[in-house]
Amino acid sequence: MNKKTIYILAIESSCDDTSVAVLANDVVLSNVVANQEIHSKYGGVVPELASRAHQQNIVPVVQQALVQANIEKKDLSAIAFTRGPGLMGSLLVGTSFAKSMALALNIPLISVNHMQAHILAHFIKDEAQKKPEFPFICLTISGGHTQLIRVNDYFSMEILGETIDDAVGEAFDKSAKILGLPYPGGPFVDKNAQLGDPTAFEFPKPKTKNELDFSFSGLKTSILYFIRKKEKENPNFIKENLLDICASIQQTIIDILLIKLKKAVKKTGITSIAIAGGVSANSGIRKTLIDAEKKYQWQTYIPKFEYTTDNAAMIGITAYYKYLNANFETTAVSAKARMTVLE
Ligand code: KG4
Ligand code: ZN
Repeated sequence: MNKKTIYILAIESSCDDTSVAVLANDVVLSNVVANQEIHSKYGGVVPELASRAHQQNIVPVVQQALVQANIEKKDLSAIAFTRGPGLMGSLLVGTSFAKSMALALNIPLISVNHMQAHILAHFIKDEAQKKPEFPFICLTISGGHTQLIRVNDYFSMEILGETIDDAVGEAFDKSAKILGLPYPGGPFVDKNAQLGDPTAFEFPKPKTKNELDFSFSGLKTSILYFIRKKEKENPNFIKENLLDICASIQQTIIDILLIKLKKAVKKTGITSIAIAGGVSANSGIRKTLIDAEKKYQWQTYIPKFEYTTDNAAMIGITAYYKYLNANFETTAVSAKARMTVLE
């Protein structure tokens, strides 16, 4: 049977990246991401500026995604957009653009939960990637979230544990800020860590009431006090030890994540483990998960690099599965800044 191909144009604008992708079923034809450089000089995302930049970027990025996919608007089957969670001003740009486009083309509108999309990015068709089988555990680690999810099916998930304060991405970014590295600091810590000694310094690993929850705010504080103390003894401490400090911070974070994953495996009996979200781009975390296949006999799933940080391809793949269920929205749908992975 030759089923009709479904072409979906997906828009992601939840934070500071404007991204548009076109998918043919589960295959990505284009995935354009416009990063907003403006925030780096403020050391964090400025919501007002993010919203304005999305407004400037959205038309050219949509155009570029269509051209790269070699698709005309009239061939699209549906328009998808990130409904939440995210910054309201940013979400509104993608939401209203998607609504107008779906209305103008008279095709279905599909809303997507950004957190589900990070997880479902694993189902993008790619010859080099294996897809996880249900049920699996997904460790979602991003700038805004840190969660252990039991994924029973595409849209059936359970939260096993989550952070009670900072997200892993924040732990990376705040540590980087203390070290004077640019924003967002995660990739810079990663780059330096690759050349440093992960055993050079030791930082405490927090305990949480629920053994599958996370806590990262204490780590940031202990790094701050450690640096202050060392700088009193030697004002050039950071400069002289940057690689080792980054490697030690990264190793502490990896150790914390691994401890929780082991506990989740023990509790659920599930040994299929996926990682998702911006921090899953981290080379140390990726290597640890690859090594875990042999070391712990887990089956591990690591997303392709371009589908780790925010992108519209993951919105498109999630929308594809919603399309198959005819899960469409009316134009009455509104953006939602706060949303759990279960909505
Ligand atoms: O998923 P994402 O793009 O946006 C959110 O939904 O939050 O994640 C962004 C986060 C930032 O905190 C950034 O520093 C972190 O992902 N990140 C990394 C790396 N690449 C991005 N953290 C550590 N190592 C990396 N290589
Ligand atoms: Zn994200």
